[in-house]
Amino acid sequence: AQGNKGVSNASPSSETGSRDWQAASQKALAFVAQLNLTEKASMVTGTSLSGACVGNIAAIERLGFSGICVSDGPTAVNRYDLVSVFPAGIAAAASWDRDLMYQRGLLLGAEFKAKGTHVGLGPVAGPLGRHPLGGRNWEGFSPDPYLTGIAMNFTINGMQDAGVQSCSKHLIGNEQETQRSNTVLPDGTNIEAISSNIDDRTLHELYLWPFADAVKAGTTSVMCSYNRVNETYSCENSELLTGLLKNELGFEGYVMSDFFATHSGVTSINAGLDMDMPGSFDSSSVATRASYFGRNVTQAVTNGSVSMERLDNMVQRIMTPYFLLGQDKDYPTVDPSAYFVLATTYSISLPNEVPARDVRGNHSTLIHALGAAGTVLLKNTNSTLPLRAPMNIGVFGNDAIDPTNGLTWPQSEPQTGFEFGTLDIGGGSGSARHTTLVSPLQAIKARAALTGARVQYLTSNAIIASNEFTSIYPTPDVCLVFLKTFSQEGYDRLSFEADWNSTLVVNNIAARCINTVVITHSAGVNTMPWATNPNVTAILAAHYPGEESGNSIVDILWGDVNPSGKLPYTIPVKEADYDIPIVNLTAVTDPNTWQANFTEGLMIDYRHFDALSITPLYEFGHGLSYTTFSLSLSLTLTHLPSSNDLSPFPNPSSPIAPGGNVDLFTPLFTASTTVSNTGSVAGATVVQIYVSLPQNSTSAGTPVKVLRGFEKVFLQPGEAREAKYQLTRRDVSFWDVVAQNWRIPEGDIGISVGFSSRDLKQTKKIKLL
Ligand code: NOJ
Repeated sequence: AQGNKGVSNASPSSETGSRDWQAASQKALAFVAQLNLTEKASMVTGTSLSGACVGNIAAIERLGFSGICVSDGPTAVNRYDLVSVFPAGIAAAASWDRDLMYQRGLLLGAEFKAKGTHVGLGPVAGPLGRHPLGGRNWEGFSPDPYLTGIAMNFTINGMQDAGVQSCSKHLIGNEQETQRSNTVLPDGTNIEAISSNIDDRTLHELYLWPFADAVKAGTTSVMCSYNRVNETYSCENSELLTGLLKNELGFEGYVMSDFFATHSGVTSINAGLDMDMPGSFDSSSVATRASYFGRNVTQAVTNGSVSMERLDNMVQRIMTPYFLLGQDKDYPTVDPSAYFVLATTYSISLPNEVPARDVRGNHSTLIHALGAAGTVLLKNTNSTLPLRAPMNIGVFGNDAIDPTNGLTWPQSEPQTGFEFGTLDIGGGSGSARHTTLVSPLQAIKARAALTGARVQYLTSNAIIASNEFTSIYPTPDVCLVFLKTFSQEGYDRLSFEADWNSTLVVNNIAARCINTVVITHSAGVNTMPWATNPNVTAILAAHYPGEESGNSIVDILWGDVNPSGKLPYTIPVKEADYDIPIVNLTAVTDPNTWQANFTEGLMIDYRHFDALSITPLYEFGHGLSYTTFSLSLSLTLTHLPSSNDLSPFPNPSSPIAPGGNVDLFTPLFTASTTVSNTGSVAGATVVQIYVSLPQNSTSAGTPVKVLRGFEKVFLQPGEAREAKYQLTRRDVSFWDVVAQNWRIPEGDIGISVGFSSRDLKQTKKIKLL
């Protein structure tokens, strides 16, 4: 099988097909044959928050099996000490750089392994980002399924090449945090979790698409989500787990429940759930380990409500990845220091500290580079940037400095985080314990010291936003304003604007400084009411860049690195341009009240802006550089098969392999174009290819255009290069709900190429049917 690379400059990653799933599956089968029923039940049930890992499958010593350790994910190894904090998924997506995505997965994977964790809980393709304010969007990549699918593929290949299992999460529709799980009223009434009601076409073309890529890349496990999907809990939704994931997408690994997301035993098992995590009903039954699985599994098999065959299959699915990645041989033991981090988090006092295993290696080099590569230059009037040896630099905002509460202090306010300190990662299970964090002010001071420049700073937003703040003397050559937008699991964001009075902060600085540069450290979409202020001469969206944050931004500001990031989402002029609110209800008494109807269907992010002809402030795919690029008008399309032979549907006799019917991935034609660096410095751009399917009776409701290829091209001044894309059958198909299949529509298909979703340089038509 082929990974969904779609380009000529493939990264050094291995593919599903290069690993011997069959041999691993045979070893797993032989393992299952040695187990008794109680052991089988134990293999599918977590041991509930015991030990150093957030999830555990118990050892079976008589077989030399030392158990499975599961840890979060997806941005760093969480709940351990002496680990690296990597750039978040959204920053990796903003780099549009396959190689960096792969490297991030590889080094992150190496840290999981060195800590003795078998399964790293990531990457994230759900939430996809239906709501700009979704609390966990930053853990994932982009609301565009194609970009997210590529990022899933390269992350998974990186992690698994390092020898650790990936767990692609959360399947599916976990698009808001509000009421993501069921809640219990004081009178004992159980109020069900939100139901994401998603139509079949939208499910296939949007939310499931990146999971198909994850399966194709060989992801070893998938985590089902907290929410309900079309009124059935994800973890007991047979259509989702068995119909779509295992049958249609050919997934051969195991499905793990999100933690306490299991709501039944027999029903879940027969629907396709393979592993219950952490293995108890809810947080109140952790001590007793009362579980839907566990002893209930033995009973269910004994009384026939679950077949032995199904239980064997569950265990086989769980053990196949373990053998596939060679985790049965010389795997590092779990770093016991993790237990202390966990215990400290939960305020348990323990007698002796154990020194942690330092797994960071030289990973800061990649973190530094990716932090810069994931930074998007949104505006740069009069070539304000790069800075040209300023001797008087102003630094403003509470995001510029070291966190005054220290590096390991939990985020105090759930929806704003701490007030003072730079933000390089969000909160919740996807966060991690820092060992180092380079703040912007620290890095700017170090840079300024090289030329003896003065650095003035004011880092209280409250003061900057108040009447107390009247002047800056002497007025800096450049005023760098650092803003942050906190986001964390369990909560949706409250506002589109950056936190801590950001608009007043920018306006007050800009009123006194004609050369104001705004840098955002953000979970994703923000409104920027100050963007058109003429004194705001440059804007950089630096996302959550990880622990080298200050060094990454200094490289961009001073031009040591030419910015090449592109927005993986759309920045609106105003909040109302996005019109899908988070469902937020009060005084609910009817258990089934929480419903999220995805009535917008496919029209999220740029698809929505295109459909309603809304002009964004900064569009999907936008990002400036310190050089300029041109695209030659030479988009050529080369048919591979003769179109006479083409059927609208994939060949029904093609096998189902991980990712789905293999014919979906048959390349149908190649598009190529030439890109040149027409400026005076070296740099990279991302050439983007968008497909516009015809609107005919069967395909009505198709978006104006969808991303179906991109390539990041590095060029010296004056250099030109050809960028090539192979488009597959899936890339030019829509999901036909009547035929229950992917279908190539009849009529002209538009193929456009450009530097962003609104900067298309050329469009050509191709007729396949
Ligand atoms: C709940 C989160 O939704 C999931 O992403 C995480 O892996 C588990 N908790 C374990 O921490």
